Amino acid sequence: MTRRRLFVTTALPYANGPFHIGHIMEYIQADIWVRFQRMQDHVVHFIGADDAHGAPIMLAAEKAGKSPEVFIAEVARGRKQYLDGFHIEFDNWHSTHSKENTELSQDFYRRLKAKGLVYPKTIEQFYDPVKGMFLADRYIKGECPNCGAKDQYGDACENCSSVYSPIKLKNPYSTLSGAKPVLKASEHYFFKLSDPECKKFLREWINKPGRLQSQVANKAKEWLEGKDEKTLADWDISRDAPYFGIRIPDIKEEKYLYVWLDAPIGYFASLKNYCDRKSVEFDDFVKPDRGTEMIHFIGKDIIYFHTLFWPAMLHFSGLYKTPDQVNVHGFIGVSGEKMSKSRGTGIDPLRYLKLGMNPEWLRYYIAAKLNAGVEDIDFNPDDFVARVNSDLIGKYVNIGSRIAPFLSKYFNNRMPGIPMVDFRGRGIPAHTGLAVAITHSGAIQSAFQEREFGKAARLIMEVADTINGDIDDFEPWSLAKDASTNAASREKLEHICASSIAGFKALTLFLKPILPALATDAEKYLRCGTLKWQDLVLPFSAEKFLSSGHEFGEFKPLMTRVDPKQVTALIEGNEDTRQVNTPTTTPAVATESGTITIDDFNKINLRVAKIVNAQHVEGADKLLKLTLDLGSGTMTVFAGIRTVYDPEKLKGRLTVAVANLAPRKMKFGVSEGMVLAASGDGPGIYLLSPDSGAQPGMRVK
Ligand code: MSP
Ligand code: ZN
Repeated sequence: MTRRRLFVTTALPYANGPFHIGHIMEYIQADIWVRFQRMQDHVVHFIGADDAHGAPIMLAAEKAGKSPEVFIAEVARGRKQYLDGFHIEFDNWHSTHSKENTELSQDFYRRLKAKGLVYPKTIEQFYDPVKGMFLADRYIKGECPNCGAKDQYGDACENCSSVYSPIKLKNPYSTLSGAKPVLKASEHYFFKLSDPECKKFLREWINKPGRLQSQVANKAKEWLEGKDEKTLADWDISRDAPYFGIRIPDIKEEKYLYVWLDAPIGYFASLKNYCDRKSVEFDDFVKPDRGTEMIHFIGKDIIYFHTLFWPAMLHFSGLYKTPDQVNVHGFIGVSGEKMSKSRGTGIDPLRYLKLGMNPEWLRYYIAAKLNAGVEDIDFNPDDFVARVNSDLIGKYVNIGSRIAPFLSKYFNNRMPGIPMVDFRGRGIPAHTGLAVAITHSGAIQSAFQEREFGKAARLIMEVADTINGDIDDFEPWSLAKDASTNAASREKLEHICASSIAGFKALTLFLKPILPALATDAEKYLRCGTLKWQDLVLPFSAEKFLSSGHEFGEFKPLMTRVDPKQVTALIEGNEDTRQVNTPTTTPAVATESGTITIDDFNKINLRVAKIVNAQHVEGADKLLKLTLDLGSGTMTVFAGIRTVYDPEKLKGRLTVAVANLAPRKMKFGVSEGMVLAASGDGPGIYLLSPDSGAQPGMRVK
């Protein structure tokens, strides 16, 4: 077998906040695939980095009162706990804000320019005269030119769905300062994607079999051939100062490369940083015809960049190879709700770890849900508990727990011989369980290779079911009763124990890419060293796989069951922090700059509220259910204040409520609003109260 040499990446996350479950899902997918390749003895460099540049990060840093450098360094420091926590084994984690990336990006720029593919063009754009910067569409709002709806973003109307240029907006304003933007001209640099040579190259690149999933190739073709509004146009690759990014070289003005130009080059920068430290030949992995493969894992929202811009940049640099595979996945949602990239709702991966939940439960659950397509997947709490407990505990771990005691009690904790029948010369064991493991191994291997992890999990569980079925049929507990006096019973007991434990070893091998820590513990018990895929190939040699007389280690419980209460705490934790501290309908302005207009403020309907009833919520250790009198009627609110307030003492007191928050369906009922409370870094939560004299229903402004 030839050893493949692979350079594997995941999309570089924006360094503007901690990881969310969508990031973790992507890393788990890629990590499983990488571990599977390593188990086959292939050489893999698995590379990640932070995407640190761009206007949003610059503005987020400013809002936090920090320099962008300090801001991104703080985010970077938070990465390790997640990656280690979920057993994600990158070889290197670097940043696009690095020496390597600056050098590589400027070099790319120069090469593309020398090819005649970069040209300057003066364009007019909205400029915020107060903030002193050009505004990307997302920082401009105004009235829809089509239906007149207020507060619509610069590129599309959420009310009537029409798409337009921000110049068409009526009464536009900058969401950064509230100022009226003015049109201002500036020279930009464009990458000539529309060049016939470029289109020709991309057409061939996209169509190469095995490179892109068919849905992805079709999408890319639509863009390329112009059947979509995103039709391929020349690409604006420069940004004016102020910007946080890499300077455009060889010009006097202070201009920067657009973040999406330097971001994918960040894959190379991180690899280079790794190669330099490890004395690995960088060129082997990025230059053509070196027999190495370059493979990206990304989500479906960034296909455009990875199937058009990036391959074109690589090819026309005249220096580099293009990606061999771009593997696209769908989005993960929670309980049927889509997760917002910016709000990051859903389940918080760090909270998952802090609750002491086993990271491999999530790895298995996600694997079981994934296939090689681009469909979205859903994290469903009940399904999670059922799936993990039934498959991992009820099927796989159970085999070890059932058989290990017999091995230790009746066979000196050693391996009896595996009974074999010679089935068509392939050496198939007599017991169906182990036989199924061996005959399924090819299909399981292909499923992993094709990223059909759900299928792999199904096949693996079929094997576990058959082994458990054998154990049920043989009833080792009955055989054990007279095994010391009855030779036939002893022989049967020997057989079922031998084949079950060999089957358990095969299952451990199959599950190892998904459950690396559990597999390591099982390997310790099996005393089998590090399992490799080659251990289980046809023709099967029982003696080689587990020789008779081999001594086992001490069997310890391998994994605990998921406690549904933990999952409740995980989901609820999210809802109560959102419910108390962060209204989900904050006007976008407030999240994107330090100031809001009075109109923005007036959108929040704040009222004096009287707490007429307060009670505990069964199954929620953080929530109180409050009934509020708002003068004109009552409203139910779930507030995360149970740990600090006694419901009895709250009854009758006044506080302040948000009366026009969109109702939110929670596990325990619908929350119709929110009460205001203060909190800091320490534990306490402090409910607001108005001065005496205020009456329920009075407007707060
Ligand atoms: N910085 C860019 C990528 C640059 S790559 C050269 C970016 N960053 S991101 O943080 O917004 O997203 C990083 C990855 O997470 C992307 O592949 C994206 O598709 C993925 N996901 C973001 N939300 C997701 C889900 N809800 N579910 C699954 N993956 C999702 O885009
Ligand atoms: Zn409209």
